[in-house]
Amino acid sequence: MKSYELIEATLADTRRLLSYRVQSNMEIHLNLKGFDYAWILDQVHWTRDLKVLDVGSGYSKLPVHIAKTYGCEVWAVDDFGMHEAGDFWERNQDPQAFIKGHPEIHYVIGRIGQNKLEEIPQQYFDVIYSASALEHVPVRHVESLWRHMDLLLKPGGNMLHGLDIAFPTSRGLRHVALAVMYDLFYPLIPRPIKERYIYETPKSYLRFLRKILPLSGISMSGNLNVLNMILNSDIVTEPLEHTYHRIVKDGLQEARYFRVGSLLLNLAKRG
Ligand SMILES: C[S@@+](CC[C@H](N)C(=O)[O-])C[C@H]1O[C@@H](n2cnc3c(N)ncnc32)[C@H](O)[C@@H]1O
Repeated sequence: MKSYELIEATLADTRRLLSYRVQSNMEIHLNLKGFDYAWILDQVHWTRDLKVLDVGSGYSKLPVHIAKTYGCEVWAVDDFGMHEAGDFWERNQDPQAFIKGHPEIHYVIGRIGQNKLEEIPQQYFDVIYSASALEHVPVRHVESLWRHMDLLLKPGGNMLHGLDIAFPTSRGLRHVALAVMYDLFYPLIPRPIKERYIYETPKSYLRFLRKILPLSGISMSGNLNVLNMILNSDIVTEPLEHTYHRIVKDGLQEARYFRVGSLLLNLAKRG
């Protein structure tokens, strides 16, 4: 496997979100997905010759925006809930009708790292990105997810991923202390526990990723620290409106608000 340079590993911040909102040529919402979309658009010098893959696209408008605005060849992969039931999928448009409405995108139905998806060409893409998708991948499939994405990305290509990461504050002070200790004593923690709790903190995900991909570049950004995450008011969190929609639109009466941030990973595959 080729090695990767880690170009950025940070949490989304309000200053950048506001400047993206002011400057972007796409409508940017002041929430995590809004940040991820604007950040992805900002990281790439988009030209017509680029081949792009959106992992876990769902009904996102981002692949359509990239194809229409920059003329790139855009592919998008998602199983559109074929493997899971739920109100979200039931209340949304029939995936086949949605796909038919967007002939400018090569949609592939399935899951990266879980299905073979032979129709997606290997070593083909200049950019592979995701927005609020990778955190939905069950822990047991995370390694095969990254190996699969690596197979599809060209040498010299970029991976850009925005993952939702829950704040430990939502489960009280004891959990905050546990999360801080988890990061601090990570090297001493038994492997099965590390493998089970990879989404526990921003650092634990990045550390797990380092075991899968040969990564060089920045070692660990201070911004990923649990204490910075919970104390720094510049860290973007999902607005309350998101929980409201889960109650009203998804019918999840028990849904309660908890703080979630976006972990941004920008990796360049060596040529
Ligand atoms: C919260 S939705 C985000 C959708 C979209 N990125 C957006 O911005 O609206 C997460 C999506 O990831 C998809 N997903 C999860 N694991 C996946 C995988 N391994 N391969 C492809 N899609 C996946 C789910 O089916 C779901 O549609």
